[in-house]
Parts: sequence; structure tokens; C-alpha cells
Amino acid sequence: MTTLDHDTDLAVWPASARQLPGGDVAVGGVALAEIARDFGTPTYVLDEAEVRSRCRTYRQAFPDAHVQYAAKAFLSRTMARWVHEEGLGIDACSAGEQHLAVAAGVPARDVLVHGSAKTPADLHTALDLGVGRIVIDSLSEVRRLATQVPDGHKQRVLIRVVPGISAGAHHAIRTGTDDQHFGLAPADGVLSAAVSRILAQPQLELVGLHCHLGSQITEIAPFLAAVTRMVSLTAMVRDRFGLVLPELDLGGGHGVAYRPGDPALDVAELGVQVTEALQARCAVHQLPVPQLTIEPGRAVVGPAGIALYRVVSVKRTPQHTWVAVDGGMSDNPRPALYGQRYTPRLVGQRERPAAPLRSVTVVGRHCEAGDVIAADVPLPADVRAGDLLAVPVAGAYHLSMASTYNMVGRPPVVAVHDGVARLLVRRETVADLIDRDVAD
Ligand code: LLP
Repeated sequence: MTTLDHDTDLAVWPASARQLPGGDVAVGGVALAEIARDFGTPTYVLDEAEVRSRCRTYRQAFPDAHVQYAAKAFLSRTMARWVHEEGLGIDACSAGEQHLAVAAGVPARDVLVHGSAKTPADLHTALDLGVGRIVIDSLSEVRRLATQVPDGHKQRVLIRVVPGISAGAHHAIRTGTDDQHFGLAPADGVLSAAVSRILAQPQLELVGLHCHLGSQITEIAPFLAAVTRMVSLTAMVRDRFGLVLPELDLGGGHGVAYRPGDPALDVAELGVQVTEALQARCAVHQLPVPQLTIEPGRAVVGPAGIALYRVVSVKRTPQHTWVAVDGGMSDNPRPALYGQRYTPRLVGQRERPAAPLRSVTVVGRHCEAGDVIAADVPLPADVRAGDLLAVPVAGAYHLSMASTYNMVGRPPVVAVHDGVARLLVRRETVADLIDRDVAD
């Protein structure tokens, strides 16, 4: 194996990625061609060391904060165990995510529960498992939750606030702006109403305010604006209710680079600036500095994952070269949903010398013109059926948002570490799909 320096092509790959002679790439010490041979394609590959080192970056950048990994980005029992071993808790937003985290051995007190529309099952599970904190998202939830709290238990809660800050890569993932369906807008008076209602419920203990601005934010400024806004709301609660809230949750949304040259949020710098801003704003309002919580999802796992496909056909038309692979919008809906762009590359052992690059469009196998994984990307001009193609930064919101469109089973997840590949999540088979169809 060569240990070439990370060339720019591998700039957004896990730090362990190495180019091998003959064109393949190894991740976590395992050649991708080997993974394709042993586990088939499409497959998601997840680099354990990359996940762990990203968790450590957070622990170092925010040594005094609770870092709750947002499980919606990707969750498996092993993933939950890794992040917990690295000192992170879990942010769960459904009964399923809560159960899985606890099944992985994460203590329920380290689980925080979210959701703008928590179902009775979500709330019941949270109370049954005994999760540490629940983030209240609507006025009606206060009583719904309080009436279910078991005798002798006091449930810690936070209130999700709409901070009125616009940030995030796409309108579908901006949640901090006014007039949307998350949280409570202070201007409407509903924040105060929620505080009153919670204080009237002895089974609930209000510990703080929460906000989540949006996702794939690459600048620090919106988070500093959120600190300013949230600390002044914390002061408002003290002034109006005489209650000094001991916690503040600033949510997640930390952006990563999907393609070489893309901006990414600097987590270390975020830690410095948010900590300073929090101290400064609290001093202005004469508040003690609250215990901070953050909830990164994508930035923990996104760059640790690679989607591995097999090319099934190459079609050359006068306008385009269409490279069709054996996956697509069922395992990665993000290009179709958010216009996300990726930089795929050919991997695997190539017997022929690399041809010059040509602009191609990589498409999926599904029956839609919009099933495009990457438009106008450079690949060797002689790309052909049977080649292996890898898409980096596929660890977050890929499997967790995958579907079985066209009755295509979801891909497996294979963890790589120190030269060893092992299955974390098995492939969904046609038999699995048929099994769910119970009527004849
Ligand atoms: N906390 C809350 C309350 C959230 O709603 C989210 C994400 C996070 C934390 C974690 O955000 P992250 O650090 O991963 O950006 N499917 C979209 C992203 C949706 C994010 C939803 N909420 C995508 O593929 O880009």
C-alpha cells in the first residue's frame, strides 16, 4: 500500500483514505474493491477511526458541554456505542431511536428527546426508559407529557424556541426562522405561556431553552447570534418568572465539505467563539453561565462514510455520458431533495491505465429523470460497466433517509478499522421486502 499524501481528490475522504497502486483506495486499511467483493454493492462503508476522531474534536472544542450526537444522521447499535465511548450522549427523535440507543448500552439519562410532533409512543418510550431530557416543542405537549410522568419522578425538560435566525444550506433544512413548524416563537407570547404551564406541573422541571437553527451551516456567525438571542431569552425568563435556567441547548447544524474546496464549519473555532460569547452575554445579563449542550449529527458521521456502487451501464449520447450505477435515490435522496452535489471517483483495481478525464453524469437505477447522483463530474473517459464507483461524505442522512423505492432493498453498512471490515447493518433482501407483505 502506498502512503501517498492526501491528494486533493481525497480531501473530503476520511483521514485514513489511501490511494493504492492500480487505482483502488483503501479506507481504514481495507481496499474498497475487497469490500465490494465481500459484501457486494451498493454498500455504505463507515470508518470507525474517523467517527471517533470527530467525536474527540467535539470533546476538545467543547470540554464542558454536553455533546449529544443527533442520531437521525445515522444510527446503529455500534455507532451509538462508539459515540458514547467517546463521551457523547444521544439526541433521539423517535421511539425507535431511543430504543436503539438504549439497546446499544447508552444509559437513558444520556439520551435527549426531540420532536415537533412527538407521538404518544415517543413520549411513553421516553418516560418508560427514563431519558435525561425531553425538549418540549408545543404548548399542548406540556400537559400530555406531565400527565404521563410516573409517580415520584420529575422529568427534566427544555423548551424549543424559534430564535428568528436564518441559516442552513437549503430552505428545507432551515428551522431557525420565524413562521415554521418547529418550536415556540417568543414574539407570539407562547414561550412565556409554555414556561407558565411547565411551572404549574410539579412532575416537570424546566432546566433550559433550546434552539436548532438549521443544517449544513458553515459559518460561525449564526451560532453567535443564537447565543445572544438565547441568553436574552434566558434573562427574560428570570425577570418574568424568577427562574434562573441552568442549561442552554444550541442544537446542531454544523456543516461539512461535500466536495474538495467546499467550506466546512471550523468546530474548534466554534468552540472558542461560542464559549466566549456565552460568557460575555451572560455577564451582560448578570446570569450564571449555563451548562451548554450541542447536537451535531452530520459533522460527526457524514465524512466518515462512503457509498460504494458498481457501474451497471454507460450510455454515450451527443450531449452526455450517462454512468448508471446499481444504487441511486433510494440510498441517497439528497441530490433530489436538496440539490446536494458530490464528487464520485472510480475505485477498485483497474487493469487498464487510467484514461483522461471526461465530464460525465452519474445516475441511479430508479425510474426517474431526477435520479442523478452527480452531474458533470470528471471520471476516466473509458468508464465501463463493472467498474466500482465511490461517493465520499455519505455517512450522514444516507441510510437514515434511504427508502425501498422500486422494491430495492437498502444497502448494508460495513465498518472499517485497522485493516478489518465488519458488517454493522446487513443488506435488506428481496425476501425482507416480501415478508412485510402479509396479505395474499
Ligand atoms: N438537533 C435537531 C433538533 C435537529 O433537528 C437536527 C437535524 C440536528 C440536531 C442535527 O443537525 P446536523 O448537525 O446533522 O446538521 N436530511 C437533511 C438534514 C436534516 C437535519 C434535520 N435536523 C440533509 O440530508 O441534509
